[in-house]
Amino acid sequence: MSDIEIGTALSSSSNCKTVIVTSCKGGVGKSTVTANLAFALARRGKRVLAVDCDFSNRSLDLIFGCEDSVLYDICDVIYDRCDIERAVIKDERTENLFFCAAPLETEEEFSSDQFSAVLEEAESKFDLDFILVDTPGAVSETVELVSGAADMALIIVSHQPTAARAAERTGMMLDSLGLTDQRLIVNSFDADAVLSGLRSGINELIDKTHTRLVGIVPHEYELSLSQEFGKLCGEVDNKNMRRIAAAFDNIAARLSGVSTPLLKKVYTGKKRRELLVR
Ligand SMILES: Nc1ncnc2c1ncn2[C@@H]1O[C@H](COP(=O)(O)OP(=O)(O)OP(=O)(O)O)[C@@H](O)[C@H]1O
Ligand SMILES: [Mg+2]
Repeated sequence: MSDIEIGTALSSSSNCKTVIVTSCKGGVGKSTVTANLAFALARRGKRVLAVDCDFSNRSLDLIFGCEDSVLYDICDVIYDRCDIERAVIKDERTENLFFCAAPLETEEEFSSDQFSAVLEEAESKFDLDFILVDTPGAVSETVELVSGAADMALIIVSHQPTAARAAERTGMMLDSLGLTDQRLIVNSFDADAVLSGLRSGINELIDKTHTRLVGIVPHEYELSLSQEFGKLCGEVDNKNMRRIAAAFDNIAARLSGVSTPLLKKVYTGKKRRELLVR
């Protein structure tokens, strides 16, 4: 099997795709993936809205570095306290990237239909190609509600056995909610540990989670560090961060329907070949 065939590209569609980024395990990188994948899609010319739906622990505003610009949030739009244009912030890095915050905390409840209606309005007002929705790291009512508005789910997994179990469980829960278009992203991938036999390889992670793979993001300390300063991958220009930006760009390509080798510009030569067979 070639590395283009591992986790095939999705068929492209002219309509806006709503994608939830999820796992019922906390801390696996859902928010990191949401923000950086949104940026990678925007850099490919797609018009993207990232929506923070982690109502108990919002973090996308900090990851995008725009926490001081947040005046309104997605619940203000759902409850008609402001219109969508007021709650959506245009990211300054590119023309195509937009962001809507979660409230700092909320007791309010809304239905899947109300959430879908707000996303539909955003889609038409901002002429969007993608809406990426960040979700909380637990089995929660929020995930159930937002999955009702989604076309597909990106399930985030890391090497930890608990993360793999959570990814499988998340997939089953989404199946039961009718959201069957699911893809796996392996985050914090540790190639050296895989090659020395210490950690699960790509195929083992696919087997454990029973989910089709769409991409791999290496573990990179600098990613975590630059995130603390509101910087996204692609903004920090050094070898390590270019590799992470390439990983997100590969996923953005596949989500856009472009066939791209799984590990293009991320790993090279013998290392790449060995990773693909393990
Ligand atoms: N590929 C990576 N390499 C290194 N650090 C990473 C990577 N992905 C995420 N991290 C770090 O892991 C931590 C958790 O990431 P993040 O907040 O995105 O996870 P989460 O799944 O959204 O968590 P929560 O469930 O609490 O919402 C952060 O400090 C982030 O910088
Ligand atoms: Mg998060």
